[in-house]
Amino acid sequence: MSRIAYVNGRYRPHAQATVHIEDRGYQFADGVYEVCEVARGYIIDMTRHLDRLGRSLSELQIAWPVERDALTAIMREVVRRNRVHDGLVYIQVSRGVARRDHVFPGSSVKPSLVVTSRASDPQAARAKAGEGIAVITVPENRWERVDIKSVGLLPNVLAKQKARESGAGEAWFIDHDGIVKEGAATNAWIVTKDGVLVTRPADFGILRGITRTTVMDIARAQGLSVEERGFSVEEAKQAREAFITAATTLVMPVVRIDDAPVANGHPGGVALALRDALFDTAEKTPV
Ligand code: PDD
Repeated sequence: MSRIAYVNGRYRPHAQATVHIEDRGYQFADGVYEVCEVARGYIIDMTRHLDRLGRSLSELQIAWPVERDALTAIMREVVRRNRVHDGLVYIQVSRGVARRDHVFPGSSVKPSLVVTSRASDPQAARAKAGEGIAVITVPENRWERVDIKSVGLLPNVLAKQKARESGAGEAWFIDHDGIVKEGAATNAWIVTKDGVLVTRPADFGILRGITRTTVMDIARAQGLSVEERGFSVEEAKQAREAFITAATTLVMPVVRIDDAPVANGHPGGVALALRDALFDTAEKTPV
């Protein structure tokens, strides 16, 4: 079956789905994106993802490319046309196509919209969670506005590549004080010896992950304590558990940080239980 992508009003075969060479997303990374999980035929936490998209757009003064309801319909259609039961749906909005000039183009230039979807294997992901992943630590070198989900991801790409070359699954950005910020494409958490979930506040300096917010909902429902505070790399190594969250990885146990095991080096029970609870707690929009 051939993949289909939505590009600026048209559903196109994936191989022929293209944007213009002067798209500002391509030239300046002048655009934003969202990734929603698709699980068992539902788009997960769509409302929160679209709320965050709206925030990213408004911070960059980019207009919605289509009405929000229309975008919802396009997302569902792309998932349907690609017959994705489990996987993800990707949305990218750029400021549009204009003659190269750093300043914003005039109001006649409309934002570009691309929506794609692809399948993934939930069994393989579950097996990976049963083993956990290693993370490496890298110095924070991104701009300050990482609360905006912009497509300018070069530091994230380089960090993730370094992780791959080190045999790790994720890289954690560390600030000047040795405190963990977040992963290249995930939020970072620990579970203390007292069973408290700890993650960095999301007011600035990290992306406010949607999976992070849903994990907080689960914690509240299950009576687990959550502390929003920074934690050091050292604290994470000594913690009872560590894990990462994202729409792509869901809740993924971290069993090594650089060269040190986390606790006994095995995935933690809290992380795995949170992973299991995610689908039931999250908002589910039928495809
Ligand atoms: N990344 N922090 C960063 C820097 C991210 O890029 C992401 C998501 C997250 C987790 O956010 P959420 O729970 O809403 O997925 C945190 C997506 C999945 C990506 O770039 O592929």
